[in-house]
Amino acid sequence: MTKYEAIFKRKSIRKYRNEAVEEQVLEKIRSFGKNALGSCPEIRIQWKIYQASDHNVRGMFQVKAPYYAALYSENCEDCYIHAGCLMQQLVLYLHTRGIGSCYQGGIRLKKDEKEEDMELMMILAFGYPAEPLERARSEFKRAELKKLLKANVPLSKAQKKLLESARLAPSALNQQPWRFVVTENRIHLFIKRPGIVGYQRQLGKNMFNAGIVLSHMLIAAEEYWFDLEYRKLDSIMEKAIQNYLYAGSLILTDGRSCFKI
Ligand SMILES: Cc1cc2nc3c(=O)[nH]c(=O)nc-3n(C[C@H](O)[C@H](O)[C@H](O)COP(=O)(O)O)c2cc1C
Repeated sequence: MTKYEAIFKRKSIRKYRNEAVEEQVLEKIRSFGKNALGSCPEIRIQWKIYQASDHNVRGMFQVKAPYYAALYSENCEDCYIHAGCLMQQLVLYLHTRGIGSCYQGGIRLKKDEKEEDMELMMILAFGYPAEPLERARSEFKRAELKKLLKANVPLSKAQKKLLESARLAPSALNQQPWRFVVTENRIHLFIKRPGIVGYQRQLGKNMFNAGIVLSHMLIAAEEYWFDLEYRKLDSIMEKAIQNYLYAGSLILTDGRSCFKI
C-alpha cells in the first residue's frame, strides 16, 4: 500500500496491542522528514520516541498506546504547518506498515528531552492496532467539499484529485478548520482564525491542522505526477475571508494535460 492509498483508508486508532514495533521502523521515525514532501531543511526538527513503560506522558483524552512519537521544532514562522505536514506523512507511512496511530493534542510530558531552543509541536500515539486499522471510504465523517470550497472557476481534474484527498484529512476534534479558494490553476488554503482567548496556542493548533491538509494534497500531487508548488503569495496575504487566515497557495504549474487522471 502507498501513502496515497492510506489517505482513503486510515483512521485514528485508540486501542493497541502491547507488541513491539521493529527497531528499523523506530529508527525511521527518529529521522523522519529528511525526504518528506514539503520538508524545509532550514526548520530544525527533532523526534523522540517514548514508550508507555517510561510513564512519561499524561493528559486529557490520552490514548493508551505502547509508543508515543514527539515532534519538536525550533519556533519560527511556519513551524506548525511544517510539523503538521511531516507528522501526517508519518501517520500515513505507519499505516502502510500496518501500524496505527492517534494524534495526542492534549497530553503533556513529565520529562522533556528536547534541545533547549526547541518546542513540542505534537505527540502521536502509535503501535500495532487491537481494532481494525482501516475503514471504508463511506465511513469517513467529513464535510462535503462544497461546504469547504469557494471556486471562481470549474474545478480541473487535478484540483478535484487534490481536494478530495484534502477533504479526508484528520483534524483536532474533526473540526476541519480549513477552507479552499480555487482559481484558474491554484488552490489557496485558509485556516480558521482563533478567538481572542488563547490566540497563539490555538493558532499553532490550526496551523498544524493546515500542515496535515497540505500533506494530503502534496501526496496526491506526487501520486499523479502533478507539478505543484506551495508558497505564500503576497497578493493573497492582503486578502482575508471573514474569520479565516491565509495559510498558503498550491500552484499547479505545467504538465496537467500530460497525465491521465
Ligand atoms: C491536531 C490533532 C489533535 C488531536 N488530539 C487528539 C486527542 O488528544 N485525543 C484523541 O483521542 N484524538 C485526537 N485527535 C484525533 C482526532 O479526533 C481525529 O483525527 C478526528 O476526529 C478525525 O478522525 P480520524 O482520525 O479517525 O479520521 C487529534 C487530531 C489532530 C489532527
